[in-house]
Amino acid sequence: MGNKHYIYIIVLAIVTMVLSACSPVTPAAIPTTLSPVTMSPNSQPPAEKDTPAPDSSVTLTGEAASRQVEVFSWWVGPGEADGLTAMVKVLGQMYPNITFVDAAVVGEAGTNPKALLAMRLAANDPPDSWQAHAGQETIANYVAAGQIQPLDNFFQSTGLASVLPPTLLPLISKDGHPYSVPVDIQRLNVLWYDPKILQDAGVTEDPKTAFTTWEAFFAACNKIKAAGKTCLALGPPWTSMHLFENVMIGTIGADKWSGLWTTPPTTDWNGPDVKAGITNFAKALSYTNSDASTLSNWQPAAKLVADGDAAFNVMGDWVYGYFTDPAPNGLALKPHTDFDWAPSPGSYGIFNFLSDSFVLPTNAKHPNNTITWLTVAASKAGQEAFNPLNGSICARTDCDPSLFSEYSQGATKDWSTDKLVGSLYHGVVAAPAWVITIQTTVSLFQSSTMDAAAQATFQQALVSACSSDGACQ
Ligand code: GAL
Repeated sequence: MGNKHYIYIIVLAIVTMVLSACSPVTPAAIPTTLSPVTMSPNSQPPAEKDTPAPDSSVTLTGEAASRQVEVFSWWVGPGEADGLTAMVKVLGQMYPNITFVDAAVVGEAGTNPKALLAMRLAANDPPDSWQAHAGQETIANYVAAGQIQPLDNFFQSTGLASVLPPTLLPLISKDGHPYSVPVDIQRLNVLWYDPKILQDAGVTEDPKTAFTTWEAFFAACNKIKAAGKTCLALGPPWTSMHLFENVMIGTIGADKWSGLWTTPPTTDWNGPDVKAGITNFAKALSYTNSDASTLSNWQPAAKLVADGDAAFNVMGDWVYGYFTDPAPNGLALKPHTDFDWAPSPGSYGIFNFLSDSFVLPTNAKHPNNTITWLTVAASKAGQEAFNPLNGSICARTDCDPSLFSEYSQGATKDWSTDKLVGSLYHGVVAAPAWVITIQTTVSLFQSSTMDAAAQATFQQALVSACSSDGACQ
């Protein structure tokens, strides 16, 4: 097993310990008064009528002196950091008196950042707001542990619920109370590719229509391998988890994928569908670059495609931001020429999604400043600044399509017509403890021989993970 895998498993073990130490607590009483956000004379109040007013459920005790808002995320790397910077610029325009303190932490789509965040929360030292995936990551974790406050008044005063797609609201709500502010929707089952490698290797099948199964994709991989190129670019361990869920979805389909996450599951973890998904996953891994686990994050893996070293990469739509944003952060590539995209194999008509959202901590140090940040994150201006650079689409349904790329316009359309399925790794369908158990299992599998016996062991580990969660009896 590579060192990276050992470190990864140790990090996961620490996160598990911290998460289990954070047993649910009773949320602190929510204060009832609010001083309005101060606007300096030259500030530009938001033009749109739907820009939220501060939440009247929040008080300002002891924060008057501080005008800072410390926001925790893992938007550090090329692409996503550009989106964050653009949204922070909107904050600066709307509320010049507020200082944004970027507490972003580098690391692997949240794996390490979330471990650090869990430690801060356990030490009762929350940032003013943090990135939280809509779904179980928010509800079964931060809400269950009493670490964040409901945002009923914020939602009421902003009318935010009326501009969110119906799919999102239940994912950020518990007992009818909304708990976070979604800023984006991201598509995860995207196959990014280099058209030139396909052409040179004699792959005549069009990825946009021909890869109806993973087997069809593997046939193309054989040609690419024979031409001396890597077929499928992969990065560090979390990207294996990302690949795993998309292989499983592309093998068993949307309904059976969703059936894995109901209580009790309607898709048998011990059955032939999951077995077929594991077989495809093992095969897909056999076409990946041997140095995957040494890469620092998703960008170097995606760059293998940009550089013409690998034909494909299965990754989220943040790749679009990285590929097309201007230098020095982005690669300034030309869509359809330098790179292209299609749904990942077997997933035509399926949209595997996540939504990033931001929260208000229970013991917020600067609650009014947090509300100011949430106001920007919820606003049309904030989302129209962040999403085009990040490659994602707005969580709001009223963003101006002309600000978005052809790719994002396509994703917006697909979001309204495709079958929607929630992400495992990115927090939608399963509680964090379950996700971490599966991550450890995937990592161990990847370090094994991955033969039939190892596949059977992997499946049994997935069955046990479901039992540990309590979803399987
Ligand atoms: C996801 C996050 C995305 C993007 C991605 C890669 O978990 O939701 O916004 O940051 O990780 O870093």
